[in-house]
Amino acid sequence: MARNGRYGLNEAIQVGFLGCGVVGGAAARIIAEHSPDLEERCGARIEIKLIAVRSLAKDREVSLPDQSFTTDPFEVVSDPDIHIVVEAMGGIEPALDLILTAIKNGKHVVTANKELMSTMGRDLVEAAESAGVDVLFEAAVGGGIPIIRPIKESLAGDRIRRVMGIVNGTTNYILTRMSERGEGFAEALGEAEALGYTELDPTADIEGFDAAQKTAILSSIAFNVLVVAGDVQREGIARVTAQDISAAHELGYEIKLLSVSEVADGAIAARVHPAMIPRTHPLANVRDVFNAVFVEGEESGELMFFGRGAGGGPTGSAIVGDVAEVARHIVSGGTSIGWTHRVRARITPLDNVRVRYYVVLSVLDEPGVLSAVAGVFAHYGVSIASVRQEGSGDGATLALITHAGTEGQHSKTFQELHALDVVKAVDSRIRVVGTEEL
Ligand code: NAP
Ligand code: HSE
Repeated sequence: MARNGRYGLNEAIQVGFLGCGVVGGAAARIIAEHSPDLEERCGARIEIKLIAVRSLAKDREVSLPDQSFTTDPFEVVSDPDIHIVVEAMGGIEPALDLILTAIKNGKHVVTANKELMSTMGRDLVEAAESAGVDVLFEAAVGGGIPIIRPIKESLAGDRIRRVMGIVNGTTNYILTRMSERGEGFAEALGEAEALGYTELDPTADIEGFDAAQKTAILSSIAFNVLVVAGDVQREGIARVTAQDISAAHELGYEIKLLSVSEVADGAIAARVHPAMIPRTHPLANVRDVFNAVFVEGEESGELMFFGRGAGGGPTGSAIVGDVAEVARHIVSGGTSIGWTHRVRARITPLDNVRVRYYVVLSVLDEPGVLSAVAGVFAHYGVSIASVRQEGSGDGATLALITHAGTEGQHSKTFQELHALDVVKAVDSRIRVVGTEEL
């Protein structure tokens, strides 16, 4: 491109969009509204050339002439005038094919697609490196929170030991509404959908797939080894009940969908699951759609990143930040460091991971029950930190919290408790985090 304009380039950088929904629509609006600022910050004018959508009939957040929209996404990735393609449609196909075509055609790519980046990220970045273009994906994790670039660039000199946090806005919104307003699960989910927080299929949020994809991306960047979504142990919030939440409150805890990844002896343990967190812990106070990520560096110590984890404005801001980064490269030369983690990580077997549990058992109301239950825990070497007996007759329950032991020890204990004559049901088992060293 010619370089003698006021800020660097005398022609505008053209952006094409794949998708103009919650995220794409907000990003396109931000580019249109912030055009003069972006020009000053990047050294070139940034314009939207073409946007691919499924339906031409819908109202859009950005106001552009009709000819700026198409229903053929391949028109966007093949347009010779477009320099940067923003992928905000989601899913694996046709997004993968479109991005690879864009890269082959020499276009830089900015994406919010964690599903794609957590499964095919290495292939995409390698294709981009061969083509000498950028693939940036800040919007894929933590919505509006800058987290990918700080870990990849600002913390490149440190060794990160652990990344822990709340990385799904929808489930955090639902759990907050259930906890603070006593709302039902379905009602809270409906609100999250209306606010544009959920994935196209909200099962991805509820069952922890979205959080596992983000955990894989964060782990890969933090530990500089390739972790894919399938490497992350996953459990969603569907089994968390109103009773669990009120029991947690009585004990001084909140229940959150937690993402944890850590490195020990060169292996990675990465998992997503509901966890009881003491109310005094900063993560217990991350409410609604907010996300927070704690990073523990050997040299930097504890860092916390906090902000809105979903929604158009925050995620659109992250996309436009990446577009600006690419624009600067177009103006000044160079490309981003894409993906330095190419070697597949060694994954710690789940059974070896150390955890604590809160367990509720429906039991027979008769002498000897407590000692039979305690005997099973003792048999597998799981130490009990506290036990409460509640109710009587048909409603008799035991609520226990364990000291740290392995997942393997705990799961064998739960299996045997199921089979015990005096135990009618294992009603709840939720991991407890943040109260003692594991
Ligand atoms: P969305 O509101 O459903 O938007 C998807 C857009 O893609 C729509 O404009 C849709 O067109 C278009 N589209 C889908 N398939 C298409 C096709 N085959 N051809 C042309 N256009 C197509 O979804 P979203 O919430 O913005 O999410 C988009 C991506 O951002 C996903 O990867 C998601 O995981 C990620 N993300 C979302 C959030 C969030 O808070 N929502 C946050 C971070 C990342 P129509 O409008 O015509 O239907
Ligand atoms: N559905 C996702 C969430 C969007 O709720 O966190 C942001 O990635």
